[in-house]
Amino acid sequence: MAQLWGGRFTKETDKLVYNFNASISFDQKFYEQDIRGSIAHVTMLAKQGILTEEEKFQIVNGLQDILADVEEGKLVISDEYEDIHSFVEANLIERIGDAGKKLHTGRSRNDQVALDMKLYTRDEIDALDDLLKELLTVLLQIMKENTETFMPGFTHLQKAQPITLAHHMGAYFEMFSRDRSRLTDIYDRMNYCPLGSGALAGTTYPLDRNYTADLLGFYGPTLNSMDSVADRDYLIELLSAMATMMMHLSRFSEEVIIWNSNEYRFVEIDDGYSTGSSIMPQKKNPDIAELVRGKTGRVYGALMSLLTTMKGIPLAYNKDMQEDKEFVFDAIDTTKGCLALFTGMLRTMKFNKDVMENSAKNGFTNATDAADYLVNHGVAFRDAHGIVGQLVLYCIDKNIALDDMTLEEYKAISPVFEEDIYEAISMRTCVEKRTTIGAPSKESMEKVIKIYENYLH
Ligand code: ARG
Repeated sequence: MAQLWGGRFTKETDKLVYNFNASISFDQKFYEQDIRGSIAHVTMLAKQGILTEEEKFQIVNGLQDILADVEEGKLVISDEYEDIHSFVEANLIERIGDAGKKLHTGRSRNDQVALDMKLYTRDEIDALDDLLKELLTVLLQIMKENTETFMPGFTHLQKAQPITLAHHMGAYFEMFSRDRSRLTDIYDRMNYCPLGSGALAGTTYPLDRNYTADLLGFYGPTLNSMDSVADRDYLIELLSAMATMMMHLSRFSEEVIIWNSNEYRFVEIDDGYSTGSSIMPQKKNPDIAELVRGKTGRVYGALMSLLTTMKGIPLAYNKDMQEDKEFVFDAIDTTKGCLALFTGMLRTMKFNKDVMENSAKNGFTNATDAADYLVNHGVAFRDAHGIVGQLVLYCIDKNIALDDMTLEEYKAISPVFEEDIYEAISMRTCVEKRTTIGAPSKESMEKVIKIYENYLH
């Protein structure tokens, strides 16, 4: 049991208490960020004359050696230390002696952990953004190839109007690009350095907080030392953003599962991304999509957990806040894993274009266009709606599509119909006439695709 605060105590900590309190099992995840922060801190202390250049030199070298040894597996982070901060400091003192004891000058673990978590989160925001960008790149590729791949668009999971695969994928492009912009917002709001806030009330040393912030790539120092050590808003925001990403991935997964079903057969998931059944030899299951849908609950849970942890904490630091780590780490790893796997599944998925197109032809997806035809020939929309309703009823009875009716049959229901009705309700016309920006026609999709291409480059 190695801890940094034995002086005041006359008794050993109970083993169970020690274990309950320790965080090394999970905060070792940010050993690199902890060392990076310490190097910046010591560099600043030397610039301010609080440490000598020689002391700085020894400490920085020692820290760099520890980092290299951990990375090469020569030094194992073991749970004999209370947390990652103790591990680094104890190892430093062991390596360089007395100079190592000066590392923690003008610093508390409260501002240190606040810094480490921010550095870690900032790195992970970049990693999440890269994964989202990769997913958007795959989506854009599918869009470019499918501006004329017709499929039914749904409302209430009932066929509604024909769209294209490009249009459907474009909806997800919008969602995931909003997810990226949320990450940018969070980054900009959180990117202020808490180091130098001490335990809660700053320090009496002449620290240069602007300089440390600069060294670590922050926009500047935080402006209130109590808030600096007590703020976990950025983690809640990140969990919320990841919960939203997972919600998007989960909706998409649900569609893939439906599209991959025997009844739909719109897509075929690649063998590499499906699994079989131990009993039913014919099965090829969409497990990856199901797992992504399932893991969404975990990320929602992390958000709710941290919100609840934070709600009753008086200022400033309290140990409850150590609970921020495991859930956030798990949520980040889960979201990154899901993004990567979903992207791979999408990239290798086969779209059964004929099946999609046939599906769009059935189900009266052109009924709205038949009504619009009547409106264009002087019929009021409400009357047109009623007439087309009769046509649909007639077709259902005969088990045919609107396109299969003869002109005589049309005229028997309304004399307004002429030969050009067939052209007016053809699937291609239904899509291609929708030329406003955001609509599915090839013409408008190509404009949007250009915008997306610029956005990704
Ligand atoms: N392991 C602690 C955490 O994660 C580090 C800060 C400890 N500070 C303290 N005053 N005990 O929050």
